[in-house]
Amino acid sequence: MNQFLIAPSILSADFARLGEDTANVLAAGADVVHFDVMDNHYVPNLTIGPAVCKALRDYGITAPIDVHLMVKPVDRLVPDFAEAGASYISFHPEASEHIDRTLQLIKSHGCKAGMVFNPATPLSYLDYVMDKLDVILLMSVNPGFGGQSFIPHTLDKLRQVRQRIDESGYDIRLEVDGGVKVDNIGDIAAAGADMFVAGSAIFNAPDYRAVIDQMRAELAK
Ligand code: DX5
Ligand code: ZN
Repeated sequence: MNQFLIAPSILSADFARLGEDTANVLAAGADVVHFDVMDNHYVPNLTIGPAVCKALRDYGITAPIDVHLMVKPVDRLVPDFAEAGASYISFHPEASEHIDRTLQLIKSHGCKAGMVFNPATPLSYLDYVMDKLDVILLMSVNPGFGGQSFIPHTLDKLRQVRQRIDESGYDIRLEVDGGVKVDNIGDIAAAGADMFVAGSAIFNAPDYRAVIDQMRAELAK
C-alpha cells in the first residue's frame, strides 16, 4: 500500500490570508493542498478559480495542488487550471458530456486525472476508464459545503473501490472527501482509502499540527 496522504481542504482556510494559511498547514505536516472549485451551477455554492491557484503558486506553495472541480461544464476549465499549477484535476462524471475525452484532456495537460463519485453516484462509471485514472475520489458528503457529517455507507463503497483498484493492477489513489476527522480516519483507512481530505477538522482547530499528528497516529494503528 502507498503512503497515506493528508490533503487539507482550503475551503475551510482563512480566505483573507489564504497564502499564509496554506503555507501554515503544509508546515504543520500536510502533504497535499485540496482546492475546491464550486460554480453555483453544478453545486449550490461559489468558491475559487484558476487565478487563486496561480496566486498560491506565485506565493511559493510548491506542494501538490489537488483541484476538485464541482463545475459544469468541466472541459473549459482544465487547461486554465493546468496552466495555473494544478497537480491533480478531478471532476464529477455527471458534469462531463464525454468522460473519456475529459480524462484525456487532463492528462494531455500533464496533470493527474481523477473522477469523483457523489454518495449516490454508481461505480459503473469506472467500467471503461480504469486505465486512465490516477485518483478515484469518493465523496462522503454531498458536495457543496464543508463541515458536514461523514455518510457511513461510504465505508462500504470504499471497500468495493479498493477491491476494483487492487484487481485492476493500476496505480490509483483512493481519496475520500467530506466529514473526515481524527475519530473516523482509522476506519476510513481500514476500508481502503489512502488519501484523506479534511477541511473543518484541521482549519477549525487551533493547532493544525496537533490534528495532523493525531490523524497520522490513527493511520499508523
Ligand atoms: C465539499 C468539499 C470538501 C469539503 C470538506 O463539497 O469537496 O472538500 O471542503 O470539508 P470537511 O472536511 O469540513 O467536510
Ligand atoms: Zn473537495
